[in-house]
Amino acid sequence: MAKKIIIANWKMNPETGEKAKELFSLSRKAALKLKNTKVVICPPNIYFQSLGGLASKSGRISMGAQDVSIFSGSGPQTGEISAEMLKKIGVEYVILGHSSRRELGESGSDINKKIKNSLATGLKPILCVGEKERCDNGEFMKVVEAQLKESLDGLKSEKSLKNLIIAYEPVWAISKKGSFKADNPDSVFGMSIFIRKTLAAILGEDAVKKIPIIYGGSVASQTVKDFLERGGVNGLLVGGKSLVAKEFEEILKIADSSK
Ligand code: PGA
Repeated sequence: MAKKIIIANWKMNPETGEKAKELFSLSRKAALKLKNTKVVICPPNIYFQSLGGLASKSGRISMGAQDVSIFSGSGPQTGEISAEMLKKIGVEYVILGHSSRRELGESGSDINKKIKNSLATGLKPILCVGEKERCDNGEFMKVVEAQLKESLDGLKSEKSLKNLIIAYEPVWAISKKGSFKADNPDSVFGMSIFIRKTLAAILGEDAVKKIPIIYGGSVASQTVKDFLERGGVNGLLVGGKSLVAKEFEEILKIADSSK
């Protein structure tokens, strides 16, 4: 059974460091019981220092950032955090191109720079792609294709591509204020095939075999098994439900026992 990956995107939560530690400890406890699943927690950057020790002690649970600067190293760029800085404090993954960032003006070429910086530094980028709206004529596939082309431009011969993860996150499926409306496993299966084909065209057949594709958007414990067993994906990106310790534990347990 191939190892699955479950990524928790905490977004701008929780409000205090104490709550972050508590949630992280509970998630780690659940992660330690798993055999076939890798867990990545992506908290707000401000919590990395205090959670770092907890992450490295377990080994089974890694930390990810929710974004990174287009600039590398250090410099006069106010408000920026570089891939090198994240790497040095023990961050292993970074979510890039999330629809929240795209909404604030992040462009395809910004995402491309961020992916290149991350790969060059040894961070593992989780590239989010997904359409805003689903239409019947299949146009939304073109949106995903264009996002992949822009973001991965110039990366064909990059050796570190094995560190890349693609997250299909249809924007309309991302939970809003307690309302959860996920995509269905059959449509995710179709999209996973389309993404693999598109990646093969951009990066070459060999690279694609090593790149996991995961699904995100209103994932809850009830849907985990179906997405993993019928959706053609290697893992899941979990937002809202990763903030509820009991529910996240359930998600991990089900993921671990899914085929
Ligand atoms: P959700 O968020 O699981 O709350 O829909 C997923 C995401 O935005 O990454």
